[in-house]
Amino acid sequence: MLNLDKVIIEFDKGLRTLFAQAQSVRPFPDKDLPDAELNEAEKKHAAGLMRVNHTGEICAQALYQGQALTARDPEVQKRLLLAAQEETEHLAWTAKRVNELGSHLSVLNPLMYTSSLALGAFAGLIGDKWNLGFLAETERQVGAHLQSHLSSLPAQDAKSRAVVQQMYVDEVGHSEMAIELGGAELPLPVKLAMRATGKVMTRTAYWV
Ligand SMILES: [Fe+2]
Ligand SMILES: [Fe+2]
Repeated sequence: MLNLDKVIIEFDKGLRTLFAQAQSVRPFPDKDLPDAELNEAEKKHAAGLMRVNHTGEICAQALYQGQALTARDPEVQKRLLLAAQEETEHLAWTAKRVNELGSHLSVLNPLMYTSSLALGAFAGLIGDKWNLGFLAETERQVGAHLQSHLSSLPAQDAKSRAVVQQMYVDEVGHSEMAIELGGAELPLPVKLAMRATGKVMTRTAYWV
């Protein structure tokens, strides 16, 4: 199931996720929008939120890669890789936005990547039904979290909002895809543990 070639390919993907500039095939959602007037505090807040989203996308890359490493069904693997491509675009959009807001990406990214990769591989190993259920729940929680960012971002920051809005649409699509492919509903304690872990990640990445 796990062969060395695959591991090397995924390792290379990991390095690129962390250290190379992600590319977007679709146009950037904020491409036609002007930069708004933001005061220092608003800029800092928006940058913090977009940094959290970028770190979330680093985790998404790793989760999808971990799952693609271990998923059994070729159809499932194919769909996961397609969704992962959209996640790469999210990575590009959020990184650019953090930059434009004059801030830096999270120093936690390598750590977050490694732990999410392990989690993704583990979810893949316990079987496609749970693997996909885990994915559906992750995307659902990310969607809820993006909605909360839409209420928290400065109202005039149309660029960040456009990026978050399109990511939200994509994440809902990923969640639906995972259910459609046979994802099981996770037990409540697992969902709660995932929510708690997500909170720690978002609270720390906001600052560092
Ligand atoms: Fe995403
Ligand atoms: Fe997603």
